[in-house]
Amino acid sequence: MKNNIFIAIEGIDGSGKSTQAKNIAKRLEADGHKVYLTFEPTDMRIGKMIRSILSGKENADEKVIAALFAADRLDHLLHETNGILKKLAEGYTVITDRYYFSSYAYHGAHVDMDWVIDSNRMAAEILKPHVNIFVDVSPEVAMKRINTNRDSVEIYETLDNLKAVQSQYLRAFEKLKNEEHIVAVNGDDSPEKVTESLWEVLQKENLI
Ligand code: ADP
Ligand code: TYD
Repeated sequence: MKNNIFIAIEGIDGSGKSTQAKNIAKRLEADGHKVYLTFEPTDMRIGKMIRSILSGKENADEKVIAALFAADRLDHLLHETNGILKKLAEGYTVITDRYYFSSYAYHGAHVDMDWVIDSNRMAAEILKPHVNIFVDVSPEVAMKRINTNRDSVEIYETLDNLKAVQSQYLRAFEKLKNEEHIVAVNGDDSPEKVTESLWEVLQKENLI
């Protein structure tokens, strides 16, 4: 049996983190791990509410959105059949496409970041990732990828927002560098090269 760990993949929209989460899941499976790939916002009840707000179908105050994400995250952790804790207990290595650093970065521009961190404290106490991987790309590269590849663009997806989110990520990493394990990989390269760097990180840090 291989050790099972919890990996969070972070990055701005269009950074390629979903692609990397899938690639790393495949690599880990080929290496003999049982893998559970998951994401936030979830596709459960609170996640659905969030997606309806992000698509512009419904309106909500930024504070409400931040609180919904914190609640969705607890559901993600604690859900009795599909929750992350349950999957870890069953021996899966869990990879999540976004976790609480997404909240710090996306809501930190609209709501006091310390409040966002506080409102996620319970999730952090329940389960911190063994590693938070930041797929680091320039906002211009990310914007180009979004515009080339998507037929619908969400409310956060403008170049100014991508820049703001990128700088909030850096602010959050600086704030929490003593409490969290954070590793950045260069996301500007080809998907294969980024996966290779990510794999090297996991090996070098003895996580797999
Ligand atoms: P995210 O989850 O960060 O929004 P995705 O993985 O969905 O990003 O990637 C956004 C788009 O960019 C997708 O169409 C994907 O195929 C493409 N893409 C992902 N990684 C790269 C890369 N390293 N180089 C070029 N294009 C990429
Ligand atoms: P996601 O589905 O990961 O979008 P994408 O595939 O485009 O990266 O996430 C949807 C949006 O939700 C994304 O713009 C980031 C935002 N988000 C928050 O604002 N707060 C959060 O806590 C999380 C997890 C995501």
